[in-house]
Amino acid sequence: MFSSQIVKNLTRASQRRIGLTIPRNATRAFSARSVVFSQGKPPVQSTSPLAPIGVNAALQASIDPTFSPKPKVFDEFSLKDRVGIVSGANRGLGLEMALVLCEAGARAIYCFDLPAEPSDEWKKTSEYVRKMDNGSRLEYVSANVTDQKSMWAKVQEIGDREQRMDVCVAAAGILKSHTDCLQYPAEQFQEVMAVNTNGVLYTAQAAGQQMLRFGKAGSIIMIASMSGSITNKDHAWVSYNTSKSAVLQMARSMACELAPKNIRVNSLSPGHIYTSMTAAYLDTQPHLLDKWSNLNPMGRIGRPDELRGVVTWLASDASSFCTGSDIIVSGGHHSW
Ligand SMILES: NC(=O)c1ccc[n+]([C@@H]2O[C@H](COP(=O)([O-])OP(=O)(O)OC[C@H]3O[C@@H](n4cnc5c(N)ncnc54)[C@H](O)[C@@H]3O)[C@@H](O)[C@H]2O)c1
Repeated sequence: MFSSQIVKNLTRASQRRIGLTIPRNATRAFSARSVVFSQGKPPVQSTSPLAPIGVNAALQASIDPTFSPKPKVFDEFSLKDRVGIVSGANRGLGLEMALVLCEAGARAIYCFDLPAEPSDEWKKTSEYVRKMDNGSRLEYVSANVTDQKSMWAKVQEIGDREQRMDVCVAAAGILKSHTDCLQYPAEQFQEVMAVNTNGVLYTAQAAGQQMLRFGKAGSIIMIASMSGSITNKDHAWVSYNTSKSAVLQMARSMACELAPKNIRVNSLSPGHIYTSMTAAYLDTQPHLLDKWSNLNPMGRIGRPDELRGVVTWLASDASSFCTGSDIIVSGGHHSW
């Protein structure tokens, strides 16, 4: 499991900490087989905050009659008292994800979007959260994700107020009508990149700075799209597809840079889901519903609520070993 050179480079204290013991007389040429696992236990480099958990809990219960077994899986998904931001959360997928983070126990989720005042749908959702009475709340912040300085400042204010930052979902995005790739106007291309790519970076930066400031583990979730890794059949969306591909690489790149700082970064790539964004196509060209449905083996498009589980998993400790990954939720669109 460990190369002999890696193990050899560890101090003896580190070797003990991860449960490995190297014979004192070992030379640089010692083989991996001379590594002794202390007391037959696996190396311990990290511990679940809910430890003992899983089979270890079962083993402890078998030797300790006072240890009472209890299900812990939903505790792993809990966001109790955590604070987060979601961009593009005045409606659509952003609002759906903001709500479920509250249901999972977050103290406050700040919804960033363009309008000066939140939509009716947002107000009703916020009221619903208030009535859940689980100590959670939705807050609305009018902001443009393309304004880097303003995003940093607004999220810093949230840090000042809440004294923590745990979760970031960068969901703001735009999709244009079909435009010929050989004639694609520069301004329109830059507009799409500014929101879908630069805006995701600025949102993630703003949250990441606060995560670092308070020194707790953080999870950044970038909403990309299956269009980042496939091309939508018969749709001339070169700017959208390019912008989403960039988000996939941004997530991988930031994940590698931020892992040592205890911040995880993943992308979430939905397939076709009915929202205002896709309504612009589906409501005006009804034949597209059948066409899009038949492009995946499940034979239907997705519902916004079908992202609830995956976003809670990514935001919470239930995904604590997941970073730099793209999670595709597309009804199997990629499998054909
Ligand atoms: N609906 C789908 O089928 C689908 C599929 C894959 C990916 N996505 C992605 O999911 C995300 C959410 O999309 P949706 O379907 O909910 O669309 P939507 O249009 O309903 O929501 C997008 C939100 O982003 C906001 N927004 C746009 N520009 C902004 C800016 N500059 N600053 C702040 N907010 C801004 C909009 O006002 C809107 O409220 C987008 O990134 C989209 O590309 C959607």
